[in-house]
Amino acid sequence: GCVIGVFTSGGDSQGMNAATRAIVRMGIYVGCKVYLIKEGYQGMVDGGSNIVLADWKSVSNIIQSGGTIIGSARCADFRERPGRLQAAYNLLERGITNLVCIGGDGSLTGANLFRIEWSSLLEELVKTGRITSQKAQECAHLNVVGLVGSIDNDFCGTDMTIGTDSALHRIIEAIDNINTTASSHQRCFVMEVMGRHCGYLALVAALASEADWVFIPESPPEKGWEDKLCEKLAQERSLGQRLNIIIVSEGAIDEEGRPITADQIKDLISKRLKYDTRVTILGHVQRGGNPSAFDRLLGCRMGAEAVLALMEATPFTPACVISLNGNQIVRVPLMECVARTKEVQAAMDKKEFQKAVELRGRDFVA
Ligand code: F6P
Repeated sequence: GCVIGVFTSGGDSQGMNAATRAIVRMGIYVGCKVYLIKEGYQGMVDGGSNIVLADWKSVSNIIQSGGTIIGSARCADFRERPGRLQAAYNLLERGITNLVCIGGDGSLTGANLFRIEWSSLLEELVKTGRITSQKAQECAHLNVVGLVGSIDNDFCGTDMTIGTDSALHRIIEAIDNINTTASSHQRCFVMEVMGRHCGYLALVAALASEADWVFIPESPPEKGWEDKLCEKLAQERSLGQRLNIIIVSEGAIDEEGRPITADQIKDLISKRLKYDTRVTILGHVQRGGNPSAFDRLLGCRMGAEAVLALMEATPFTPACVISLNGNQIVRVPLMECVARTKEVQAAMDKKEFQKAVELRGRDFVA
């Protein structure tokens, strides 16, 4: 079997532990050695007790926990070659030539660059006498597999990222809770949800909670939206609705590309309609707590497939991402996904929203 290192990087998300567990257990099952690399790339650079050999028990009782038990960090050192050189050395010391990176697009891009740079890092380590040329030959290739862990569901190439479903549960629960108190006091609530530049969480939460209005980055409201919004809210009230719920994605923008904030909407409604209006910013509550059944299984399925992909990798296999296509777990080329994810952002920056939505390939976000 091969020697695998697994790490989580970037923002955490529910279901990362399920993925880590599956990688360790599937790895052991097929005869691999699996190391847990703690604190993301930082642990890889720091080495020592940050890189520990896992056994079956190391990942017991974690499938139900949110966050990531192996820690995650942003790492400046890994951005510089000396940091990556040290990271390579630490991996080689343990014979690790297979990496599973669980993270967002930035973390996965980093892993792929590391893979491309690997042979030149080995060369330098041989030249400076830190490793033997025999070691360099034995460990000539670094295989990389990525799993997308993010609540934002903003990655091209997979239908769902690990954590999105749990974050949606958190949001829906919060809206349901707000609903009862909002109704008692006939209030309007403006709720800001996460998602960075992606409106998935906001849109799906709005659909599932019967919200009155939703603002998402992919579909800035047309000029004059303020009037339409107020009309709609007043209409709902005239039909006997005692409350209003408005969902704002944290990346929402108006027709000029300016951010639309929850406070701005609150002020508009309080002033024009005189409704008692409150703002609730859900924040990191959305990223916390236990993973849903869906995210546990998604993490398990993706983790198991990651090990199989590594076992089948050859020096010519490009790095891949394990993704969900419909209900199938499939392998897709990492760099193509990262490139398409960047194209989406570029289209969003140029206000080419339709193009961005098409590139992402999810019909219902249109
Ligand atoms: O990418 C996940 C996410 O939770 C985004 O939705 C949000 O914009 C960001 O991370 C928050 O980052 P941080 O945890 O560093 O504040």
